[in-house]
Amino acid sequence: MSTANPLDDALARLDSLQAEGLAGFAGAKDEAAVEAVRIDFLGLKQGRLKAAQEALKTLGRAEKPVYGQRFNAAKQALEAAWEASKARVGRPGEVADAVDVTLPGSRPKIGHRHPLTQTAEELIDLFGRFGFAVARGPEVEDVRHNFEALNIPSTHPARDPADNFYIGEGTLLRSQTSTVQIRTMESQPPPVRVIAIGRVFRPDETDETHSPMFHQIEGLMVDKGVTMADLKTVLRLFATSYLGRDVKIRFRPSFFPFTEPSVEVDMLWHGGDRWVEMGGAGMVDPNVFRAVGYDPDEVSGFAFGLGIERLCMRRHGIKDIRSFYQNDVRFLGQF
Ligand code: DAH
Repeated sequence: MSTANPLDDALARLDSLQAEGLAGFAGAKDEAAVEAVRIDFLGLKQGRLKAAQEALKTLGRAEKPVYGQRFNAAKQALEAAWEASKARVGRPGEVADAVDVTLPGSRPKIGHRHPLTQTAEELIDLFGRFGFAVARGPEVEDVRHNFEALNIPSTHPARDPADNFYIGEGTLLRSQTSTVQIRTMESQPPPVRVIAIGRVFRPDETDETHSPMFHQIEGLMVDKGVTMADLKTVLRLFATSYLGRDVKIRFRPSFFPFTEPSVEVDMLWHGGDRWVEMGGAGMVDPNVFRAVGYDPDEVSGFAFGLGIERLCMRRHGIKDIRSFYQNDVRFLGQF
């Protein structure tokens, strides 16, 4: 509405500017919108209030104070509306920025080493204290290291293609870590005191305690005068150290081509109602020593091979070997 009076005109423009500005701040939904309204109305360079201040120059001496007062009132109203709208939309953000000590904490998810890795590390540590160093061998082996040098002749049923993963002429995925016994003795003279930890492969039916791929720990001690008593002492010491003082283990006479005499080692399973095989062991067969160039009249030794999954299962009360390979974080997160 236009009148002839410049003061009335200017005051009317100030009224509608203020009304628009208040509506703008009231309707702004977020911080960006509030800021846009602020720049539009309260911006120091191009703001509409700044422009309205210019009107002062066009007014007469007597009109200036009237307009000035009204201008200040409009400015205060807009600034108050700005503060109010900032507080309104800014509240969620401000809570996030500030520390609210009453909020429940959010636990960071921490990664875990696989329980089998943890077990392997613990075994290395334990046997390290008994004086055993760590030896290694390849997972893809030749028949010499997997069978021949271990006194397993070519007619032996353990070589059956149905019981092994042959992958080429004379090569296979190793079926036992006993291969590392041969590799170690081939590469150094006695005395030997090593363990080897790794994967082995057999085309077995999968069930609660069997898997076509699992892990073994192999042990070998060769020196002058090593006896079966040393073997039993080391294995008992190991079992009570790893599984606890009250663990029951037993030795049963058995047969392996690479040891004589041979034993199987059992441990009493969860709940104590059945024995489960931990692995095999025995005194290194003279033929094995001959195959690697050791003199069986000079040295003797013991060897053992234990299943790592079963040790870990017995220790932690794990019921099914397959849990190790499914990589379900609900399982893995417990270790
Ligand atoms: N290699 C055997 C297996 O996988 C376990 C074994 C038995 C290892 C007797 C040995 C040993 O070192 O002396 O069934």
